[in-house]
Amino acid sequence: MSVVTVKDKSFETYLDEATIQKRIKELAAKINTDYSGKKPLFIAILNGSFMFASDLFKHITIEAELSFIKLASYKGMKSSGNVVTSIGMDDDLFGKEVIIVEDIVDTGKTLYSFLPKLMHQQPKSLKIATLLHKSEATEYPLQLDYIGFVIPNKFVVGYGLDYDGLGRNLKEIYQLV
Ligand code: IMP
Repeated sequence: MSVVTVKDKSFETYLDEATIQKRIKELAAKINTDYSGKKPLFIAILNGSFMFASDLFKHITIEAELSFIKLASYKGMKSSGNVVTSIGMDDDLFGKEVIIVEDIVDTGKTLYSFLPKLMHQQPKSLKIATLLHKSEATEYPLQLDYIGFVIPNKFVVGYGLDYDGLGRNLKEIYQLV
């Protein structure tokens, strides 16, 4: 168990590198089987999912495409948290087998607000792969098809996830002490 400081807070190891990588291989194997003979389009949501998307995609052995998009929400006096637009969404999803790749589903609001925009393009199918799921915190009904780890409702950093922009470079996932 190691402790790191990110900005002004202490975090301790929660999921080590080997555990994360082993689980990602398992998820990729399941996706390879489920999508055998198909050509899915993975859409990874930036910034947080870049490491997960990269490691997951390395273990995808079927024909597949990968795109990255960024979601932007209004930031007024108080951020509503409502997703209003996506940046980089230039793929035509019509008839495609789409797999959304997320780092973490917390309340579920981000994906829940964004999914209708994707569905509007009439993909053939739409599934969600998330590395982490804070199941106790989830308020919005979402079907999560591939889940790496169900975790408690505690703030985590590392492996792409940030605390105030920092900590994304850590190889392991750390939990607030
Ligand atoms: P949701 O809309 O509440 O599901 O939140 C999803 C987004 O909030 C994620 O994509 C992350 O960017 C961020 N987030 C939620 N929980 C954490 C956490 O524990 N650490 C870092 N980012 C988080």
